[in-house]
Amino acid sequence: VGQNLVTLKEVDSTNNFLKESLSNSKPFPEGTVIMAEHQYAGRGQHQNVWHAQPGKNLTFSLLLMPHFLSPLQQFGLTSAVSLGVYDALHPLLGDALKIKWPNDIYYGNRKLGGMLIENMIQGGQIRNSVIGIGINVNQDNYPETAGSAISVKQILQTDYDLKNILAEICNHIEGWYLKLKAGKTADVRNTYLSRLYRLNELAQYRSNGETFEGRITNVTDTGLLVVERNGSEELYNLKEIEFIN
Ligand code: BTN
Repeated sequence: VGQNLVTLKEVDSTNNFLKESLSNSKPFPEGTVIMAEHQYAGRGQHQNVWHAQPGKNLTFSLLLMPHFLSPLQQFGLTSAVSLGVYDALHPLLGDALKIKWPNDIYYGNRKLGGMLIENMIQGGQIRNSVIGIGINVNQDNYPETAGSAISVKQILQTDYDLKNILAEICNHIEGWYLKLKAGKTADVRNTYLSRLYRLNELAQYRSNGETFEGRITNVTDTGLLVVERNGSEELYNLKEIEFIN
């Protein structure tokens, strides 16, 4: 992963760029990374916009071809990629680093990065996976509207070399991806759980317009969040539950 690196000065979104390239007569090989200094239409989860100060942050997409996964096993890939990013940043940031379900990277209660994974399904298997990753690295400040965003620089007070962090992320993603490919799903799953933000902590959530106190106890194989609420365990899909600070 990352051996074939394409750096763009400016693009709408590296995910769009990589997806469009898949229909070329000569598509990029697996492991290709497209990195942009500036995205003028960066996309986040849930149709959100992804803002990043030009040149200061990591915004890139990587191409994987996990033909061994069915659409029901997508969460394995989500976990493997999250763990790769986690392991790359952990030596810098330590245990305050967490993975917020399903695939946000958190430092304490603040968001350091996120990912947008777009899978193309064919014949019941995942054919191509475009994995877009945004990490706040050297940005100095965030507008109020950026919510809980924080950068590595705001935590450690120094600038970091984007390409070095990118290389670490690629190496660690490759490691976890190969584990997944080798069928070591329990290892991926258990490690993901051990890094999970708010696991076993009592906290506030909102679902269906109701706010309640609950405790995350698990994540299912297909990626549903298991929350203990009033003594019983409930399953939540993406968009069905919101974390409250
Ligand atoms: C999120 O947390 O909402 C996901 C953010 C994903 C942002 C990255 S930046 C590189 C890639 N290109 C995009 O347009 N989005 C992803």
